[in-house]
This record gives sequence, structure tokens and C-alpha cells, in this order.
Amino acid sequence: MAGMARIKITVVGAGNVGATLAQRLAERGYADIVLVDIVEGLPQGKALDMLEAGPIVGYDARVTGTNGYDETAGSSICVITSGVPRKPGMSRDDLVKTNMAIVRGVTQELVRRSPEAILIVVSNPLDAMAQLALDVSRFPRERVIGMAGVLDTARFRSFIAQELGVSVRDVHAYVLGGHGDTMVPLARMCTVAGIPISKLIKPERIEAIVKRTRDGGAEIVNLLKTGSAYYAPSAAVAQMVDAIALDRKQILPCAVRLEGEYGIRGLFVGVPVKLGAGGAEDIIQLELTADERDALQRSADSVKELVGVMGLQAT
Ligand code: LAC
Repeated sequence: MAGMARIKITVVGAGNVGATLAQRLAERGYADIVLVDIVEGLPQGKALDMLEAGPIVGYDARVTGTNGYDETAGSSICVITSGVPRKPGMSRDDLVKTNMAIVRGVTQELVRRSPEAILIVVSNPLDAMAQLALDVSRFPRERVIGMAGVLDTARFRSFIAQELGVSVRDVHAYVLGGHGDTMVPLARMCTVAGIPISKLIKPERIEAIVKRTRDGGAEIVNLLKTGSAYYAPSAAVAQMVDAIALDRKQILPCAVRLEGEYGIRGLFVGVPVKLGAGGAEDIIQLELTADERDALQRSADSVKELVGVMGLQAT
């Protein structure tokens, strides 16, 4: 019987983020998954293990592991998680040189075989790596998207829900800006069942929650000691993949290259984006206060600095 094939999604990097993402996507069942890594046997072993979970969990998705890229040809979505993770005391920016070489090579291999794909970049430092992937791929900006805002927002929402003893589902929030010290949790726009948190939580507690959110990645790194977060990061990417693969037109905070939106041009910054089959189909321009705009601009400035370190142009 002829029918429509499942779409193909490639996940590059079979480490904690990549492998957990592959598992989450396989369990959704709508896509075949190709897991790529340079370590011999690692992606093959993890992919086979996931395939064998199919009869128990109830999915038919094919999961393939490989050390090459031929199997990735014709992917609809490619997620780049490769790179070395942060160690305790190391900033995301320390990673730039090492991960730059890795992300450049991976992007070249992917776009050669999947010229129509949408790229989701997860490697750190996130905003700079997304900028690099856009530059290397020469894709339109709609098809190169960085994951950070969904993760940072989830951390913020978790802490607010904990503080108030309410469901995470009732907490609505956006964290904008860069993934790192310059992120911009929009506390002013955070609501619980429509009520601004300023009416529910004391200012000093809000401030403490904002700080914990900003340091959320480091908090996990310090606990784990050997590696960084992966359950929440992989869940964040899976939500973005859902929005694109299922053409949800869902508005999520993502890193995209701004072209004048928010007064910023040529740089990746986290802003609310409408995600659908076309990728980043639209950028939502929230009305920000002067302080919030300044904070976003500082994020853009720090991305610009890294873009300079990488020898790219902020075009
Ligand atoms: C984090 C690191 C991975 O935020 O960037 O968890």
C-alpha cells in the first residue's frame, strides 16, 4: 500500500542531550530518527537500544545510529547538539573556539545532504553557534533556530510554580535575550492564571527567582560535576520540533537572527517566535520597557562580541 513516509529527523551528537532528545522524538512516533556521533559504536548502540524499546513503548519509528552523514540525507529537521559541554567554573563563552570548529563541520555535512532542512542549534555558546550555523549554511534565517528560551523559560516557570504551589501549566512567562548571563526573564509579563506575579510574589523573591533562572544551567553543572543539564534541554528541543513538524504555529522563545526587530540587526537574540512548518515563520514584537530593551540590547552586544571572536560578520 502506498502512503506517506514518516519524516526524517537527524540528531547530531549522541551524548546526553542528543540521545535523550532522540528517545523523546522516537516515542512521539511521527518521525524516523537518525542519530549521528563521531564515537564509533555509540550512536549505533544507543539507536539500536531505542529501536528495541519500540515494541514495549509502542512506536514504529526507525532509529538509526551512524558515524557518517549519508543516512541523514533528506532530513526535514536537523538538531545540532555536538560540542564539548561546560565543566564547573567554565562559562559558556569559554567553549566558543572548540565548539565553533565542531559546529562548522557538522553544519556543512548536514546542509550538503538536506538542503531544505530546518536547523535547530543546541550547542553552546548557543547564540554564537546559531549565528555560525546560519553563516555556514547560507540558509534563510527562518530555517536556523537556536534553542535556549524554551529551556530558560521552563526553569523560570518551574521556580514560580514552586513558589506559589500552583501547576506549571498555569504559569505563563517569557525569558528573552541570550542564553547566559545576559538573559532577560520578563518578570513583568509573567502571569499565573492571568494575574501578574508582581501581585502574588514579593519583589525580592521575584529577584531571587530571576537570578536562579539566569544561573539555572550552572546550578545543574555544579551538581552533576561531570556534564550539564539534559532532561529539560532535550524536552525544550522536542517541543520546538513538535511545533515545526506538526505545523503548530506555536509561539515559543527562540534564538533567531533579528533584522531590525527590537532595534537589533544581524544578530541572534532570543525573542518570541512563531514556529511552524516553515521554521521561524514570524517574530513577535512585544512592547518592552526601556529597561527591558536595554537588557535585550546587552544580550545582543555580548553575541556581537562572540561573533567577533569567531571572525564572522554580524550581517
Ligand atoms: C544549560 C546549559 C547546557 O543551560 O547551557 O543547562
